[in-house]
Amino acid sequence: MKIILIYGGKSAEHKVSLLSAFSILQAVYYEYYQVQLVQITQAGIWRKGPVLTDIPKDKTILDLTEANSQVITPADIKEENSIVMPILHGPNGEDGTVQGLFEMLDMPYVGCGVLASACGMDKIMTKHILQQVGVPQVPYVSVVKTKWKEQPQEIFEKCEGTLLYPMFVKPANLGSSVGISKAENREELQCAIEEAFGFDRRVLVEQGIEAREIEVAVLGNEEVRTTVPGEIVKTVSFYDYDAKYLNNDVDLQIPADIPEEIQQKAREYAEKAYLTLDGSGLSRCDFFLTSNNELFLNEINTMPGFTPFSMYPLLWQEMGLQYGDLLEELIQLGLM
Ligand code: DAL
Ligand code: MG
Repeated sequence: MKIILIYGGKSAEHKVSLLSAFSILQAVYYEYYQVQLVQITQAGIWRKGPVLTDIPKDKTILDLTEANSQVITPADIKEENSIVMPILHGPNGEDGTVQGLFEMLDMPYVGCGVLASACGMDKIMTKHILQQVGVPQVPYVSVVKTKWKEQPQEIFEKCEGTLLYPMFVKPANLGSSVGISKAENREELQCAIEEAFGFDRRVLVEQGIEAREIEVAVLGNEEVRTTVPGEIVKTVSFYDYDAKYLNNDVDLQIPADIPEEIQQKAREYAEKAYLTLDGSGLSRCDFFLTSNNELFLNEINTMPGFTPFSMYPLLWQEMGLQYGDLLEELIQLGLM
């Protein structure tokens, strides 16, 4: 069987995708699979690269594709006896759009379908839906660009009437902390909202809270398994994109040092969130945990970072499931 490994993409998380996909190439069980490389460039051009039958010797995934690839249209990935592995983060990769393509091509693929991907990528929609099933959320206000341009005063009043400073301002549809900023006062709130509108036409303003960041990995289709929670231990005050992915300012504590009942609660909420959004394959649910043990779901990532140093595979390793076996499970779940 052939794995059609798609990586890169137009989103700001292009580099994370390359790291995740290259790690996967080192771990594929080549006795069962060949891997067709498909790179999406930062400009959004699809390029078909070579077919690998063994662990690559090259230093980066781009070394593999760049010398030896041809431009294709997305539908050209179609092949019999294959499964797509879209290791793409953020818009156009993790948001249901590319999943819609696989549905139209009638190809099996790894990970969440159109609905869960679209809802999970959209921070405002995630909140609206999960609120209905009692998964606790940090208080928030949603803002659309036209309204902001016409009536900023009303937006300020709504935010300040509902939330306390500091607030966090986030584009509805981006991952890896891109376009997110913290606002301590009205002036900063204005800048933060303007900044976030540079990335999306819908923006979420959220109550800032002092909290630890706890993450749970979920695996399965309708029957799911969850892991013990891990913690992102803070060495900087806010995890922006550079801190997370470029400066390595991240310490992962696995399992998180939190009371047993909070662990259970986080796992229950993660499962509920996943099933409510109709998740399949995998997701990582990120929570805030306050000092008085209040737990809030922050977000659900339907294609979490997948390097050997990423939280998702490390959480499964803690549960006794090694990286290569985890990949195999994901493939089998995608084929179901
Ligand atoms: N959005 C990144 C890849 C993550 O959540 O791991
Ligand atoms: Mg997160």
